[in-house]
Amino acid sequence: MAKAELRNQTVLTEFLLLGFGDLGELRFPLFLLFLVIYIVTMLGNILIVVLVVADRHLHTPMYFFLGNLSCLETCYSSNILPMMLANLSDGGPRTISVTGCMIQYYFFGFLAASECYLLAAMSYDRYVAICKPLLYTVLMNGRVCLQLIAASWISGSLAINVTIYLMHQLRFCGRSEISHFFCDFNPILKLSCSDTQVIELLTTFLAAVCSLPPFLLTLTSYVYIISTIVRIPSTSGRQKAFSTCSSHLTVVSIFYGTIMIVYMLPKTDALRDLNKVFSLFYTVLTPFFNPLIYSLRNREVKEAFRKTFTKCCIWERMQGHRLICLFI
Ligand SMILES: *[C@@H]1O[C@H](CO)[C@@H](O)[C@H](O)[C@H]1NC(C)=O
Repeated sequence: MAKAELRNQTVLTEFLLLGFGDLGELRFPLFLLFLVIYIVTMLGNILIVVLVVADRHLHTPMYFFLGNLSCLETCYSSNILPMMLANLSDGGPRTISVTGCMIQYYFFGFLAASECYLLAAMSYDRYVAICKPLLYTVLMNGRVCLQLIAASWISGSLAINVTIYLMHQLRFCGRSEISHFFCDFNPILKLSCSDTQVIELLTTFLAAVCSLPPFLLTLTSYVYIISTIVRIPSTSGRQKAFSTCSSHLTVVSIFYGTIMIVYMLPKTDALRDLNKVFSLFYTVLTPFFNPLIYSLRNREVKEAFRKTFTKCCIWERMQGHRLICLFI
């Protein structure tokens, strides 16, 4: 009895991250797919940050939001994907220290919660620009923009600090396998031998605070935006604006929707396996699609891209290099 108790009390210092489990033949194609997704995500987001910083035509609130979003997503992807790729590359489980695991969860939670608020701030910015164009410069001046961005980062950091503080009190003894591709909240909690009821309730509440109000705000903004757009007289302008808005709304809804499913619904067994798939949407696909649909389709971004690279080419020529330039 005493011995069994002692063994049960052995405190774990490492977890085993199982990744996707045994994928068989699928493992290598999936590895390649996620590798390409990771590279494209990094290139797209870094390109946007560079353009927003370098081109002064993009020094407007909308592009500050987009630049900050891309900056956030670069970190967000780099927190999750390299470990996931390593897991897929050899198919074996990976050990990760308990502290390392908490650090990964900390950055994930911080960036995901900030992104929830940032996306809402961006939809509000578009709402003002499209529905209240005459008030735009008053309502969205540099200070308001800075405050909205700061509020997103601060709220995200508050939410995760409360969670991490509570997680820090948990003890881990016994099983050490995390059946997931990154250190997420629910799989970690399942391994704890402490009482997890309070922390579970509190984080469900926090997840609701981080995702529901921003989601509703985003939804409301887009309803107003779309109802304004359908009154635009020219059909081609209307169609383009409508397609832009609907693609924003789709990606944003998938992001909030999957987060809500994973963190707010009761954790039944059937849902537990599905959650791994749902997590792919908000960890991998959102950072991949956001630069493509928010920025790289915009005329101004394309223009900035062309100008920036034209400048590089001219500079290269002056240096005496012969360079085939696609952008002149
Ligand atoms: C983020 O937002 C701030 C505040 O508006 C802005 O000054 C900064 O340039 C933005 N960062 C990027 C990378 O766009």
